[in-house]
Amino acid sequence: MNSKIIDGKELAAKIRGEIKLRAEAFKAKRGRSVGLAVVLAGDDPASKIYVRNKIAACEEASIRSYSYDFPEEVSEDAVTELIDALNKDTNVDGILVQLPLPKHINEKCVLERISPCKDVDGFHAVNAGNLLLGNKCLAACTPQGCIELIRSTGVTIEGKNAVVIGRSNIVGKPMAVLLLQNNATVTVAHSKTVDLKSITLRADILVAAVGIKEFVTGDMIKSGAVVIDVGMNRHDGKLYGDVNFEEAKIKAGFITPVPGGVGPMTIAMLLRNTVTAAENA
Ligand code: GUN
Repeated sequence: MNSKIIDGKELAAKIRGEIKLRAEAFKAKRGRSVGLAVVLAGDDPASKIYVRNKIAACEEASIRSYSYDFPEEVSEDAVTELIDALNKDTNVDGILVQLPLPKHINEKCVLERISPCKDVDGFHAVNAGNLLLGNKCLAACTPQGCIELIRSTGVTIEGKNAVVIGRSNIVGKPMAVLLLQNNATVTVAHSKTVDLKSITLRADILVAAVGIKEFVTGDMIKSGAVVIDVGMNRHDGKLYGDVNFEEAKIKAGFITPVPGGVGPMTIAMLLRNTVTAAENA
């Protein structure tokens, strides 16, 4: 079987177009732009690229971005003071603190300082908890993007065996919750899982979010499966997924490429959460 490649760039562009219309309608009604504050601390080159892409996407979607760059040595107090000010700022609907933060800063304390109403990454305990309970909330962006990518294939999620490899708070755990909400039968595998291959071979939907270059090989994939590759592993200046694409595309029914699959969708979902936060304010 030769897979259909799921074009995340094309789907993200379509969704960004819809968000732009919502952002313009918000401005017409409320007399101000939707606003996103983007906070970057330190010199991580990958983070700088991600932040630049997020700011450019805001501009294109008629969302005003406010950029705050701190040096590596910034104190935790300086970051939390900024967050306190942004929480009160009525022009700011969303606050994004790019991760990872410098090692001396307690990431958890910083993320918990963001008002849950402005937590457009969906990382705050209140949003993560509400997601688990099935309540209205701002859900994590990458898992939301993965759900949209799966839906775009026309394959129904309900009743399917879905396997998520990875249990991070940012991707694995919220991904499992969203798949469960869509009535999949969900298995979460991780570094301590025994006989992973026997589990992945049963996956009609396989989401790889382990952070290890080409960890999922062709022999681990069920014929015709939908394979979503969340990996962004940089090696020698090139980007690799968590899935061996060349092997997987022979087995899978649908597969996301890296780059051009999940990455653009994460940004589109960030913009969607930001407009939703503005409309809710
Ligand atoms: N670092 C890597 N991915 C993300 C993300 O989705 N949001 C934030 N804030 N930081 C990240």
